[in-house]
Amino acid sequence: MPAIPQLSEPAFRGFTRLMHETAGLSFPDTKLPLINSRLAPRLQQLGLARFEDYLEMISRPNDGGELQVAVDLLTTNETYFFREPAHYELLAEELTRRRLPSVSAWSAASSFGDEAYSTAMLLADLATQGRISPSWQVLGTDISDRVLRSAVQAIYPEDRLRHVTMEQRRRHCLVGEGASAGLVQMHPRLSERVRFGQLNLCRPIEDIGPFDVIFLRNVLIYFDTATKREVVDRVLTQLRPGGLFFIGIAEGRVACNTPLTPLAPGAFIKGQA
Ligand SMILES: C[S@@+](CC[C@H](N)C(=O)[O-])C[C@H]1O[C@@H](n2cnc3c(N)ncnc32)[C@H](O)[C@@H]1O
Repeated sequence: MPAIPQLSEPAFRGFTRLMHETAGLSFPDTKLPLINSRLAPRLQQLGLARFEDYLEMISRPNDGGELQVAVDLLTTNETYFFREPAHYELLAEELTRRRLPSVSAWSAASSFGDEAYSTAMLLADLATQGRISPSWQVLGTDISDRVLRSAVQAIYPEDRLRHVTMEQRRRHCLVGEGASAGLVQMHPRLSERVRFGQLNLCRPIEDIGPFDVIFLRNVLIYFDTATKREVVDRVLTQLRPGGLFFIGIAEGRVACNTPLTPLAPGAFIKGQA
């Protein structure tokens, strides 16, 4: 059996530089073993013995999508429906109070789409109850086309919907039977209001807004302090003044140049109170 490839210090530096330049990802020196263990199986799969060769492969302009595979292996796409439920409760209250003519929301690191569809379920229910305008839509974006392809399919293992009530499932989901037992698909009524697209938060963003609500949750952890600030300011250019901005509850107060008014843990209003 071929030996397991070992990541050298210089190759580690090459990886961290490339990941920072292309996806904004930051890896301190302590992460050498992590990069080694996450990527070694991929090298073996490709029949490569040396990390230097893999680095060379993903650095080529025509890398056949391998850089994306490496980014996927080095980040986590973990997500589930109604993660951090306090944010959805707050969103419902705030939107009910605001009476906007329409509501547009952006899940800016959407992963498999759980956050985008959770938001869609909430907005659909609020609209049915007459608490928001019937004119609403959701956009989900991510750097990874692998997760986006899955998001468009809108099919999930039931476990990911553990925080979705039975009534919500009945209203918004199709439940799989036979070979599809244990899977749930978003109802077309819901998925037709949710779009997905690829977007790297570390590159300039063309005008895709303005949005009334932006989720940027559980992605800032991958960036260093300077990149976090740039990403947050860049994302906030797409939020209307007075719009709602959510980051992960554990991500604390993010330093940025755009004025924000804290509302609750991980929740802010764009602008000064
Ligand atoms: C842990 S998931 C967060 C999913 C969801 N927001 C949540 O809170 O459940 C992080 C996502 O960030 C994405 N990501 C990492 N770097 C990115 C970048 N530079 N631009 C856009 N998305 C990125 C990853 O592909 C991954 O799907």
